[in-house]
Amino acid sequence: MFFRKKKNQNYNLDMNNIPKHIAFIMDGNGRWAKKRKMPRTYGHHEGTKTIRTLALEANRLGVKAMTVYAFSTENFKRDASEVDYIFRLPKEFFNLYLKELMDNNVQIRYIGHLDLSPKETQDIINEAVKKTSVNTGLILTFAFIYGGRDEIIETTKIICQKYKDGDITLEQINEAYFEKHLMTKDLPNVDLMIRSSGEYRLSNFLLWQLAYAEFVFDDILWPDFNEDELHKAIAIYQGRERRFGGVLK
Ligand code: FPP
Repeated sequence: MFFRKKKNQNYNLDMNNIPKHIAFIMDGNGRWAKKRKMPRTYGHHEGTKTIRTLALEANRLGVKAMTVYAFSTENFKRDASEVDYIFRLPKEFFNLYLKELMDNNVQIRYIGHLDLSPKETQDIINEAVKKTSVNTGLILTFAFIYGGRDEIIETTKIICQKYKDGDITLEQINEAYFEKHLMTKDLPNVDLMIRSSGEYRLSNFLLWQLAYAEFVFDDILWPDFNEDELHKAIAIYQGRERRFGGVLK
């Protein structure tokens, strides 16, 4: 007789210690496609399915926020045809999955310079943000034309302007104040950062927000990353002792 494995069975996840915010560097789409003798864009296409799978599963597990690195400020260095393709993916993604994400109470957000993408891409993403803004489940944020250093500079400019206008004093500027002006604003700090494809770099992702995150690097290429890999990463996270600069008890 065939029994379906129950979800979470393999890793015995502690449901009282689920990370609040998980960030993903979705790497390996190009290599995944190359292995199949397909164009790199096919890997990005398949990679969007992984976002849907993981968002639904993270939501089911009670994760509050999930942020995915969809396009970095440095990704403009790629061939124009690949950049154009990635800019068309939000349309495909939301056409296919917005209803399902809505039904699952997922809220969509973005961080980054969306205004540097084509008007149609901006409209599609803004519409998804608007439609889902009342949802109270997982907050799925797309880092889109995003760079961590750029975000810190942008935040610094906002705060400098406030100081220049006489709205704040120097004494008011502290970590909590700075954090409130980042693009991620009210999101919790990242607890767990996962990078696929066996690369061990941050690549300018969420530099401030990752200060005390646990890092899990997985060899799996992004289009193959699935619920099981997510459970494995959470289990690794749960096995770690987070000290936030303190000492072992
Ligand atoms: C990294 O793989 C992946 C990217 C730079 C783009 C990822 C984008 C998506 C999965 C889709 C975004 C979707 C929406 C809805 C906005 P790589 O190309 O660097 O892979 P490689 O290292 O194997 O070459």
